[in-house]
Amino acid sequence: MSDAPHTARFTLDPAFTVSAVDPRLFGSFVEHLGRCVYTGIYEPGHATADEAGLRRDVLDLIRELGVTALRYPGGNFVSGYKWEDGVGPRDERPRRLDLAWRSTESNRFGLSEFVDFVRKVGGEPMLALNLGTRGVAEAIELQEYANHAGGTELSERRIAHGDKEPFGIRLWCLGNEMDGPWQTGHKTAEEYGRLAAETARAMRQIDPDVELVACGSSSQGMATFAAWESTVLEHSYELVDHISLHAYYYERNGDRDSFLASAVDTESFIENVVATADHVGARLKSKKKINLSFDEWNVWYQDGSAPTLSDEGRGDDWAEAPRLLEDNYSVTDAVVFGTLLIALLRHADRVKVACLAQLVNVIAPIATEPGGKAWKQTTFFPFAQASRYGRGTVLDVRVAGPTHTTEQYGEVGLLHATAVRDEDTGAVTVFAVNRDQTRSLPLEVTLHGLGLTQVAEHSVLADADPDARNTAAEPDRVTPHAATGTALADGVLTAGLEPLSWNVIRLA
Ligand code: AHR
Repeated sequence: MSDAPHTARFTLDPAFTVSAVDPRLFGSFVEHLGRCVYTGIYEPGHATADEAGLRRDVLDLIRELGVTALRYPGGNFVSGYKWEDGVGPRDERPRRLDLAWRSTESNRFGLSEFVDFVRKVGGEPMLALNLGTRGVAEAIELQEYANHAGGTELSERRIAHGDKEPFGIRLWCLGNEMDGPWQTGHKTAEEYGRLAAETARAMRQIDPDVELVACGSSSQGMATFAAWESTVLEHSYELVDHISLHAYYYERNGDRDSFLASAVDTESFIENVVATADHVGARLKSKKKINLSFDEWNVWYQDGSAPTLSDEGRGDDWAEAPRLLEDNYSVTDAVVFGTLLIALLRHADRVKVACLAQLVNVIAPIATEPGGKAWKQTTFFPFAQASRYGRGTVLDVRVAGPTHTTEQYGEVGLLHATAVRDEDTGAVTVFAVNRDQTRSLPLEVTLHGLGLTQVAEHSVLADADPDARNTAAEPDRVTPHAATGTALADGVLTAGLEPLSWNVIRLA
């Protein structure tokens, strides 16, 4: 073993685990926003479109990405949405103003099309309800339309619309970001807590087994953070299953070290929500634990400073499917994105659902051109690898190693890591990020009682140009490559992690 002080070390032992991973940790999000739906997943007339108008080239990429839960239809969009507009004969559906994104919604794509899409990619639907401009009545009407077998006006309406079998939607979001003053129908914690509780109560009268997510805070930085969660859960604790978290990060003022440490915020956000939920549970003398649905997370340049997928403008106000939020991601963005995945896995004991926001074109791992090709952004790779190899049991990883000081987060470890054991095969995958922009980071992992003998793969996402991106002109500019020199001998894994890199080390 090396004594070099610069080496990062940890020990893996199957006796020390965090939790089984809920597959829904690898969820994503489809909002009626910009070109996520229209010309993203749905484009009748596209050369690859199937009979339902879904782009087969995009469906293939989504399957390769490995998404599980799919949240829909918003987002801010849902808080002004009438679900009835999106069902029934397409040509009779109304065109509406979408206040959230100042766009025009054609409603050519709605609930039935979404469920068909989810089935084709092998996911589970996660439906968000409008608790902004609407309330309990419309929520249970939608539930009845979607899930009741037949014999009532609403269930028969679904059947008349061509969907004989109920959709069987189990996972529901009770509104979206209701703490945010930008939200249509924004509410105080008291107002929302009561509404969430009463909506949940009514939905459970239809089906006691629905799984319900109450809105938490839109970010840890909200002035109402923690007080919001506390009040909302005081009203709804015994009626809901999860509380939501949303977080987006981007590089500010060229401070890349702080950006690379973004997961410090993600982890503290998770831990603070757990503490708040458990505090409410203790006060209520409840035996129940509330889990976390991290149902929006990503890198998102909210100041508009990122390059975009196309030079075309965003389109006028009230345009249909304009180019909005089309961030084109760099290698650095993908490495930060990887640390966010690591943060979620490290907290798999309480984070049971997570949704990458979003899936196609809009701050997304998949990009498309209308009438043209589809390609992978840099962030596609960490997600696909984590979803593929991050199933099983998260092992407890406690890193000892070098640190550096960042402006935003103080002293931060250069290594951010987690490990997941596949319980069927015994294989272990280490996910690791080297946050150091200039130096390689030696890694040593001591393996106890895992019966591992070989390195099956060490894949790296890093580049001499950390600002490199995949574009329509150069869609394969950035892809993962194989590392050299990674070894497993005498129960110790040794590797060198390239500067500013995302690493997937598979041990068999
Ligand atoms: O994902 C983009 C937007 O971010 C969502 O509509 C909203 O919920 C959040 O503020």
